[in-house]
Amino acid sequence: MTPVDDSTGAGGAAETPRLLVRWLSKRYGNVQALAEVDFELRAGEVMALLGENGAGKSTLVKVLSGLVQPDSGTIEIDGVARDLYPSARSQASGVAVVHQEYSSVPTLTVAENLVLGQTGVSPLWLPGRLKARARTLLDAVGLDHINPGTLVERLSVAEMQLLEIARLLVRDSKILIFDEPTAALADREIERVLGVTKRLASEGRSVIYVTHRLPEVFRIADRVTVFRNGRSLPARSTRDLDVDAVITMMLGRELQTMFPKRGTARAETLLEIEGLQAPGLSEPVSFNVRAGEIVGLTGQLGSGASTVVETLAGMATLQAGRARLDGQDISLKSRSATLKRGIAYCSADRKRDGTFAVRSIRENLSSPWIRAVARAGWISVRGERDRSSDIARRFTIDVKRMATAVGALSGGNQQKVAVGKWLGAAPRIMLLEEPTRGVDVGARAEIYQHLRDLCAAGLGIVIASSDTAEVLGLCDTIATFYRGRVTALKPHHEWSEDALVREVMHQEAA
Ligand SMILES: Nc1ncnc2c1ncn2[C@@H]1O[C@H](COP(=O)(O)OP(=O)(O)OP(=O)(O)O)[C@@H](O)[C@H]1O
Ligand SMILES: [Mg+2]
Repeated sequence: MTPVDDSTGAGGAAETPRLLVRWLSKRYGNVQALAEVDFELRAGEVMALLGENGAGKSTLVKVLSGLVQPDSGTIEIDGVARDLYPSARSQASGVAVVHQEYSSVPTLTVAENLVLGQTGVSPLWLPGRLKARARTLLDAVGLDHINPGTLVERLSVAEMQLLEIARLLVRDSKILIFDEPTAALADREIERVLGVTKRLASEGRSVIYVTHRLPEVFRIADRVTVFRNGRSLPARSTRDLDVDAVITMMLGRELQTMFPKRGTARAETLLEIEGLQAPGLSEPVSFNVRAGEIVGLTGQLGSGASTVVETLAGMATLQAGRARLDGQDISLKSRSATLKRGIAYCSADRKRDGTFAVRSIRENLSSPWIRAVARAGWISVRGERDRSSDIARRFTIDVKRMATAVGALSGGNQQKVAVGKWLGAAPRIMLLEEPTRGVDVGARAEIYQHLRDLCAAGLGIVIASSDTAEVLGLCDTIATFYRGRVTALKPHHEWSEDALVREVMHQEAA
């Protein structure tokens, strides 16, 4: 990969910025999403845009992409004032975006999605040409194993995200915006995205890169702009910063601890998994979960780690094997069967089955346990309100906004709702996939603490996560997966970060 050339990017402050945003404000009802934001992007630079959940990052992205009209402020591209609303204008001005919530149409093919909604691309392209073009684009983002004729609904979350990036390459845009492009991805796909991003910048395009994964920032960004409560702090060069300094800028304070102290798991086995086989697993999987223990399953995309969690949730086809809870066999044949036995499940894709976007925060928070507060078919409004407000407070979700539709929340706050709703259900086992995807550092620490609290109350937790730092910092026992089988299963203190990353990538020690 060609390194970013300093002379094109972070250099000469005197040159006209590629993008200059001044005094930009946007209000939603009583939420000031953007407040007099100043933002500058130079030609050929990668600018990381950082901030807590709800800080306004996606709102800026939506303004720049013409989805949202700002209340006030000015935008200049290459020194010329521009109105970027609606999105056709933004596109015509050379802005292209990969949104946080992916926008591919699941019922169309990969190739069709690549040309969908793109100005300057004829829908009358011959199928053969369309396919050939799609092939080139897919290869560019490392989706070489995907057939252009595949329906998008068949893709994994990570593959959909890479498809979004391929869509952005269709047009020749000079300002590229990535809103959390790697949130759904594992190490190897992240490398691919970072590689593609660097290459695009080295070709002279300017990139705005929104992320909560701070180590990435130092790998690709020339400068950093931090948003706090809708306001922008002055941009800083990554050369003058480190991760801790960035966290302090984001939170306005230092973060004391990211990972809570581990408790002592109890001796008794809560969940026994024996010889589990399901599509996507190449060898039977067996492990135990003790009460109070967090077991982490980690691996690359398609490694089988999520398959195990999905199978335990009753979401995949069980081909062989058994699971016992408290020594009693449990059926894994459907989600409702496992739910009945007290198995909570928080999926990686909150759009598919994590939250209901059009329903309120309160309704979402109470959805897993609403039956418990209902008596003879009547829902106790008071019971629901008390319990969901309690959860909201524990997750620092604004209690005044309980009636707000979850779809209007920032991405990270939606994730807090997706995890938090299980707290009221008193489950025995909690299964989570990528629990802190898109969650900011502060809220991430809170979620970890909540999971530890649940352990202290005797729950067993199984997490599938591609974030090796998270698995290492949080879990008691860690299993690594590679191509559908477990390659190692050890207590956390027998792992180092280096050994874990190497095991996950399936590489020999250097
Ligand atoms: N359509 C909307 N209606 C009402 N409020 C909204 C809407 N869109 C965003 N908001 C609010 O504006 C604020 C900024 O949200 P935004 O999505 O820009 O945050 P963000 O920085 O991208 O956060 P995250 O890191 O969680 O993605 C939040 O309080 C959010 O709830
Ligand atoms: Mg966002």
